[in-house]
Order: sequence, then structure tokens, then C-alpha cells
Amino acid sequence: MPHIVTLPGDGIGPEILAPTVEILRELVPDATFEQHVFGGASIDEHGTAMTDEVLEAMKRSDAVLLGAVGGPKWDTTDPNAPRPEQGLLGMRKELGLFANLRPVRPLEALYDASPLKREGIEGTDLLVVRELTGGIYFGEKTRTATDASDLCHYTVKEVERIARVAFKAARTKVTSVDKANVLETSRQWRQTVHELHAEEFSSVPLDDLLVDNAAMQLVAAPSDFDVIVTENLFGDILSDIAAMLTGSIGMLPSASLGEDGTPGVFEPVHGSAPDIAGTGAANPLATFLSAALLLRHGLGLQDEARTLESAVDQALTQGLRTRDLGGTASTAEATAAVLANL
Ligand code: NAD
Ligand code: IPM
Ligand code: MN
Repeated sequence: MPHIVTLPGDGIGPEILAPTVEILRELVPDATFEQHVFGGASIDEHGTAMTDEVLEAMKRSDAVLLGAVGGPKWDTTDPNAPRPEQGLLGMRKELGLFANLRPVRPLEALYDASPLKREGIEGTDLLVVRELTGGIYFGEKTRTATDASDLCHYTVKEVERIARVAFKAARTKVTSVDKANVLETSRQWRQTVHELHAEEFSSVPLDDLLVDNAAMQLVAAPSDFDVIVTENLFGDILSDIAAMLTGSIGMLPSASLGEDGTPGVFEPVHGSAPDIAGTGAANPLATFLSAALLLRHGLGLQDEARTLESAVDQALTQGLRTRDLGGTASTAEATAAVLANL
């Protein structure tokens, strides 16, 4: 009996999470769910974005489904005030979720929903493998009245384990993205990726690309990519760029995975979208597709994962378009369209 912890979070989080749980109940009738406040909602209730109880509940679960956290209510430049994002980062670190998979699979039906030209997107099916527990996100931070710093730090071990994930996921090639012309962490990243490649994965073609060029190539020639592997901050930015190949950030799912045996966290790539929260207009498809990743990677239910992905694809092919995709469908209508195709 799979046990799933659900964390709706803030903004549109609860609006996209509730229908996703409804869909999971259809697909996995014996699954049990345990819901907790997280992020800003947890700050309001407990003064911290993630309580020890919630972390323990996650550790006991088979998988975690997260909506999104954050919003203007908790936005502050005060370094001592709690922030919703601390929950997210704390959870990733505490569960050891070093591998963030962000598949970018633009559906043919949505080619015209992208601001990019159809000819450019055609044939694109790529995976961003983002390192999630290291780099500038987690290095030492300092702040005085007159200056501030964030340290970017990586160990060879951290680079090896994320590169290994990328090589294993590759179908045609791996593109390692760095800033080795400037950053020491990137030069060590590049050397480490190449050493691992020579030792264990020499049959997989490997390219290096500087991150600024990678950002440009993602727009100019996205179908040239298969697996992109990169460090934490670069992966954050590149995946939002890549989202637009699918028409909207509201389409991009993610899986955050640790060592075997740790529960993964599954969440859309987008945030809490405070600008549309409460309007019923949020696109729930990135969260549905994250639930498909939960079924596949978290619970090992391949058939159910494929069923859900096909139901999303079919609904879109039949014309489902939420507002972010240029249509008028509400969250509820999008949910009904996917449920009808399950
Ligand atoms: P955002 O992703 O929340 O929103 C960016 C734009 O995309 C907005 O115009 C929004 O309306 C739109 N959008 C996002 N998701 C959508 C959806 N499902 N359907 C339709 N439109 C959608 O980014 P932001 O505004 O920069 O950040 C808002 C808050 O979310 C911040 O506090 C940020 O820290 C947080 N955030 C959280 C996560 C997370 O929980 N994993 C991820 C990113 C940002
Ligand atoms: C994401 C988000 C988070 C990140 C923020 C909210 C901390 O943007 O999951 O992509 O930067 O990792
Ligand atoms: Mn992001």
C-alpha cells in the first residue's frame, strides 16, 4: 500500500494539488495520503517553513507530492526572517535529493502554443538533469550592512554522482553545461565529468557547452539536445527557458531523487504563481505530469505512469488549453478533460 505525503504549499499550490490527488486515487486505489502544511502556510502556522514532524513524515513515506511555495506575503530582504523557500531547500538537503530530472517533451499539439517557431521545436525531447543539493544554493552565505556573499562549492563526489545519473539517462548523448572559462567549480566539474566518461561511459557521446551558449542553443536548436547535465543554479535557469518549448512553464514536471531507498519529491517546475492564485486559472498539467513521474520513479508503476501521460496528451490533442496556453479552460475543466481520458 503506497503511502504518499502531499504538501500543497502556497498560492496555486493547493489548487493544482487537490485535482492531482484525485487522479492518483483513480490510478492507485490502495494508495494512502497524508497532507501537511509547508512553505509560507507552515510559517504562518508554526513559524518555520518545514517542521521536524513534516520532515519525519516525508522520510516515512514512499513519495512526496508538492505543489509550490512562496508568495509576496513572505517576501522579505531581511536575512533573519523565515522564507517559504527554506522549506524546499531544507527538504532537498535533508532527504539527499541530489538529482533533479526535468523532462522537456513538447507535444505536437502544443507546437503553436510556444512563442518559438514550430520548425525549431519539432523533434525536441530532452531531459535537464540538474544537480540539486550543492553549488551556490548551499554554500556559506554572509551579509553585513555593506556587503554580502554566496559561496559556490562542489566536491568531486557530488559531480560524479549527478554525471552518472545523466550518462545512465542518455539515449543519444550528454551535454555537460558549465562556465569553465570563468569558474573554478566549473573547471573541476568538466574534468570530473570527462574522467567518469572515460572510465565508465565512453560509449555515450559527450559534449561540453558554456552556459550562456547553452541558453541560446536551447532557443535556437533545442532538438540538438538529449540529456543536459548541469549544476544547481544553471539548471534552475535553463529549465525555465526550456519550459517555453512546451508552450508554458505550467507544462513542466520534475522528479527530485536521492540514493535508492529515499523517497523522491515530485513537483512542477513552476512556482506558486501569486498573480493568478485564487482565479481558478492555474494549469494543473505540470503537476499531473509530476504525478506520472511519481508513479514511475517513486512507486515503480510504469503502466499507470504511461496511462496518466497519455491522458494528458490526449486531452491536449483534443484541444484542451488553459489560459497560459492561449485558451480559456479553467483548472477544473483541465482536470475533467484528463480524467475523461484516463
Ligand atoms: P512562478 O513560476 O510562480 O510564476 C511565473 C509566471 O508563470 C507567472 O506569470 C505565473 O502566473 C505563471 N505560471 C506559473 N505556473 C503556472 C501554472 N501552473 N499555470 C498558469 N500559469 C502559471 O514564478 P515567480 O512568480 O517568479 O515566483 C512566485 C513564487 O513562487 C516565489 O515566491 C518563488 O520563490 C516561488 N517558487 C516556488 C517554486 C517551488 O515551489 N518549487 C518554484 C519556483 C518559484
Ligand atoms: C525551482 C525553484 C526553487 C529553486 C526556488 C523556489 C528555491 O525555482 O524548484 O526551480 O531555485 O530551486
Ligand atoms: Mn526554478
